Amino acid sequence: MSSATDQSTAAGEPEHQAAYPPPAEFAANAIAQAGLYDEADADRLAFWAKQARELQWETDFADTLDWSNAPFAKWFVGGELNVAANCIDRHVDAGNGDRVAIHWIGEPGDSRDITYSDLLAEVSKAANYFTEIGLEPGDRVAVYMPMVPEAIVTILACARLGLPHSVVFAGFSAGALRSRVDDASAKLVVTTDGQYRRGEPAPLKSAVDEALGTGDDAAKSVEKVLVVKRTGHDPDLNWVDGRDVWWHETVAEAADTHSYKAFDAEHPLFLLYTSGTTGKPKGILHTSGGYLTQINYTFRNVFDHRPESDVFWCGADIGWVTGHSYLVYGPLSNGATEIVYEGTPNSPNEHRHFEIIEKHKVTTYYIAPTLIRTFMKWGREIPDAHDLTSIRLLGSVGEPINPEAWRWYRDVIGANRSPIVDTWWQTETGAMMISPLPGVTETKPGSAMRPLPGISAKIVDDDGNAVADGEQGYLVLDEPWPAMLRGIWGDDERFKETYWSRFAKQGWYFAGDGARYDSDGALWVLGRIDDVMNVSGHRISTSEVESALVNHHGVAEAAVIGASDETTGQGIVAFVILRGSTTDTGDELIKELKAQVSKDISPIAKPREIYVVPELPKTRSGKIMRRLLKDVAEGRELGDTSTLVDPTVFENIRKKK
Ligand code: WT7
Repeated sequence: MSSATDQSTAAGEPEHQAAYPPPAEFAANAIAQAGLYDEADADRLAFWAKQARELQWETDFADTLDWSNAPFAKWFVGGELNVAANCIDRHVDAGNGDRVAIHWIGEPGDSRDITYSDLLAEVSKAANYFTEIGLEPGDRVAVYMPMVPEAIVTILACARLGLPHSVVFAGFSAGALRSRVDDASAKLVVTTDGQYRRGEPAPLKSAVDEALGTGDDAAKSVEKVLVVKRTGHDPDLNWVDGRDVWWHETVAEAADTHSYKAFDAEHPLFLLYTSGTTGKPKGILHTSGGYLTQINYTFRNVFDHRPESDVFWCGADIGWVTGHSYLVYGPLSNGATEIVYEGTPNSPNEHRHFEIIEKHKVTTYYIAPTLIRTFMKWGREIPDAHDLTSIRLLGSVGEPINPEAWRWYRDVIGANRSPIVDTWWQTETGAMMISPLPGVTETKPGSAMRPLPGISAKIVDDDGNAVADGEQGYLVLDEPWPAMLRGIWGDDERFKETYWSRFAKQGWYFAGDGARYDSDGALWVLGRIDDVMNVSGHRISTSEVESALVNHHGVAEAAVIGASDETTGQGIVAFVILRGSTTDTGDELIKELKAQVSKDISPIAKPREIYVVPELPKTRSGKIMRRLLKDVAEGRELGDTSTLVDPTVFENIRKKK
């Protein structure tokens, strides 16, 4: 079981954590009232149809759900809408064009305030240019950009034209970008010349050049690379004539009005690649009407959002699903005013986030537990030096939050009064699934509490029987939901196999997490039960890291596990067996191995520790026993070793440590 389990149980039985009822004043005025649960329970599909009609449809839908070809869902059948118009035009049309959509803050200290009218003009320009270069609905666009306004403009221009976007985190390597560009056959890649990293400019376009290759090796699908000048620092910037164009010479010069078309509710909106249990990332497919419905609904109700007075801040990067759903589509479809910050929390120093909260009077702050634990390490005198009284609601996402971090977050950042919403969901679910409603649901430090109105989840054993309260089981979603993934790009079989085969008889979605209910009916997510690690809220598969390691000429075999880590939740620990011919076994080799993983995947996948070992513990059927490696990495007594071929393997591994 994951480290998260160990953390949440370490403080004793989790259900004995004190519960925090919603503050009376908050509860009295909350957008979501208790009746929402009853309404959804009474008629789930009618409930979702009502949520969908909060959006602007160009053609109303005839049916709410077509599940006849399960697990391939169709929501809001026959309906037509434009996702970008829902995020921009309808707010301008309602007279809110002058409202700030985005307070953008650059890492070096530059900033821009972008109103909804500004956003409409910018997105229109990009849409006009994308049309001019011949992109047609359904064509894929890869986005490989830091957190600059043009990234959001690009995403929305794609949505406006029905071009599915595939955002690739700008911290990913050239190799990772190439495999995603190829898998989706992207025609356009949008990037920047460089990006800021802890105050220093670093090249980015060079990674695109490396990824796309030249001559016989060139990525065949790519016609254009559109480049935003962000740092202007790279004197050796490579330029491929005919392929590469500057944003400021093309998009910026295009007409700033554009009339949109409506698309079918099931028109693909985006692909987002995520790690699974095998090495090959999966292109998770999301579509338009259902996704936007659930995003719009969860943003408003879970964040109790008031567009006229709230200032929202989601700390995620656009490269992850949290950035897609709660930095782009959720806030903008609700007409919110939000913060978009380009940089890291300690640039130029550890006060950065709190200065931003103070200056912009942020009311709602949504981050990952790993950042909360980092703030704890830095010390409470840093947030205490700022006026954070504007904050009225806090959110947590991406990994289980340990009760200690939860209480610190509430006390120090939330002035001991702001409710915390711990939101469980996944790239695949598209939107929040399990979370308290801030004015209704009691909260317990470390629990995501209960499925949201309209969502159904169960905790079951291997046979699909509900487990008793207090017992751990598999978390399954037993009813389809509007923002659910519609498939894995180009691989229907893998989609069925990965998510729907474990409980095929019942037709349930298996999330990959373990969970339990406590005796009060509060739901505790315990973390992944498959070979997927969670490092700082980022999902990384053990096999991806293993294959990067064996890519190094010196390595014969590798086994990777996620070991508990005080700050990052899990840390990556690798055990490698060297080839007989490898003579260098010292620090130099370890450095090279770490560099190999950075290069093949990303610096975020770099192992925290690498042990060179003579053997790996295997069962008689040849399976590596990761559970035992975890015991070693976490310094515990070894569990049951009776199924090992050779129990003395461990003595050797321990000696090498
Ligand atoms: C996995 C999904 C949710 C968007 C960011 C991550 C873990 C996520 C929680 C939470 C406990 C959580 C799960 C899940 N997870 N949120 N509130 N409590 N665990 O999306 O990269 O698709 O990862 O993150 O293990 O399966 P993702």
